[in-house]
Amino acid sequence: MDGAIPEDLRAEGKRLGIPAPIAMLAELTHRCPLSCPYCSNPMELARKNSELETADWVRVFQEAADLGVLQLHLSGGEPASRRDLVELVTAAREAGLYTNLITSGIGLTERRLKELEEAGLDHVQLSLQGTDTEMADRIGGYAGGYKRKMLVAAWIKEIGFPLTLNAVVHRQNLHQLPRAIDMALEMGARRIEVAVVQFHGWAMINRDALMPTKEQAEEASRVVADARVRLKGQLVLDYVPADYHNDYPKPCMGGWGTTGLNVAPDGEVLPCHAAQTIPSLKFDNVCDKGLSEIWYRGAAFNSYRGDDWMQEPCRSCDRKKMDFGGCRCQAMALAGDPAATDPVCIKSPLHAELQARAATFASNDSAELTHRGQPEA
Ligand code: SF4
Ligand code: FES
Repeated sequence: MDGAIPEDLRAEGKRLGIPAPIAMLAELTHRCPLSCPYCSNPMELARKNSELETADWVRVFQEAADLGVLQLHLSGGEPASRRDLVELVTAAREAGLYTNLITSGIGLTERRLKELEEAGLDHVQLSLQGTDTEMADRIGGYAGGYKRKMLVAAWIKEIGFPLTLNAVVHRQNLHQLPRAIDMALEMGARRIEVAVVQFHGWAMINRDALMPTKEQAEEASRVVADARVRLKGQLVLDYVPADYHNDYPKPCMGGWGTTGLNVAPDGEVLPCHAAQTIPSLKFDNVCDKGLSEIWYRGAAFNSYRGDDWMQEPCRSCDRKKMDFGGCRCQAMALAGDPAATDPVCIKSPLHAELQARAATFASNDSAELTHRGQPEA
């Protein structure tokens, strides 16, 4: 592939009403110094020796730009675990992509951050596991992680990177949410993303240790709503509410195969982060096909585009263009059918049972956290 999109593919996409993707998530590696119990990466992590080489990623970034991608999110695992991170950012900027580094901060030094700035890195998203040493190191499963993260946050501020703080909140740390918002201000962040834990991948085995109570979920929504008013013009708050306690599902990925794509560490191209949990899907790999061919013609991408695949009650629902029937991976996990209505939805026959299960998970005070391990060498 020379990178350019063949005209027939572009025309085919237009004819079928398939827009170009706006964003690409490049999961550079599954290796990570932290071992968060809410990790949404798959149960089986990609091994280091299966990861794409630098030259592969460089080619994929150019193909993404040619396809129409504007924003590149460099993620993992921990992207700083890749020795070639600076080289990859340089290549992404040369391809004309807006680059965002999603990191725990562990593995970044002041010098490396300066090199990333020189390479043209546009934005940093720093994760927050808790607002003090005890909480953050316990949740992240990494002693000394909080102290290191605070150092990294200070370097980010000094260098002047635009910063978003990513706070995943759950039953064990939700009481720290107001402090997390204050910390975002102190760090000079322009945005905080408050995500009540979502259950995909490894997180599924920690539902009873992490599920917030309904009261906590409501309190989180109140805290976010108040902060949005109080901090208008100072801090943007993005919010992902507690899924299982809601009456309507989230419009996952903004609709399947419409706005974004993920490339896994080994080069498999996924319509969403958890797509590998749907056993019926077959994925293409960037080592075998061009990205545009995969986007427009890939079987996995075309499986849930549009609404022909929908069943009732989604098929005749007036919200189907708002939430696209919810999350396909959640429908798989909870209903055993990726084309089912997401059981979070009040119209799903499984909704009442899901809410009851959520209450049971949330009341399990003796549940222990199960931290995740590292990929096999
Ligand atoms: Fe969304 Fe389907 Fe529920 Fe309608 S029935 S609100 S489309 S999930
Ligand atoms: Fe796969 Fe929601 S995570 S569609």
